[in-house]
Amino acid sequence: MDVRVVDHPLAKSRLSTMRDARTNSAAFRAALQELTLMLIYEATRDAELAEEPIHTPVAKTTGYRIANPPLLVPVLRAGLGMADQAHRLIPEAQMGFVGLARDEETLLPTPYLESLPADLTDRPVLVLDPMLATGGSMVHTIELLVGRGATDVTAICTLAAPEGVRRLEEAGLPVRVVTTSIDERLNESGYIVPGLGDAGDREYGAV
Ligand code: URA
Repeated sequence: MDVRVVDHPLAKSRLSTMRDARTNSAAFRAALQELTLMLIYEATRDAELAEEPIHTPVAKTTGYRIANPPLLVPVLRAGLGMADQAHRLIPEAQMGFVGLARDEETLLPTPYLESLPADLTDRPVLVLDPMLATGGSMVHTIELLVGRGATDVTAICTLAAPEGVRRLEEAGLPVRVVTTSIDERLNESGYIVPGLGDAGDREYGAV
């Protein structure tokens, strides 16, 4: 499985803002949005282009557009904070939604929303979830996508735990991961260490 760690200095700096327990929700959301731009930029580096002739004010030349715009799939709740920025960078993309809550005892994902196109054959999909922790939510989401014919899925995650990366590898799903850091481990509560805490709570407040 291809795992790309974006270790650009600007990405590291925004991630540090998100990690810092003193960062308030507004600053956390701003840093997540900026980091999302960098991750999407990197994830689409090899996107196929279609050529079309264009006229500048000076001459005729070749223009380019994304040949096959991806489907963006934020995983609610925490992935919502990445959705607008991803869409800003790829305005021609369509957006689907998956809602998963984590059962705090079993740590298993419990689905409550699934809003996706029926047919994803030949469509690249970018799944937006800040945290790849146990990998349970990501595996569940990618299985939903693969069930609709997707074969080209990229998980865009601010942070990943080695356990989550391993789980995705073992699942043998057609996915690659773009992240800013693979942290040390998961703790006994399923939090990434050192991590940044509960991403949804940091974005929107604890409920
Ligand atoms: N989900 C989070 O929001 N944070 C973690 O550390 C793990 C899962």
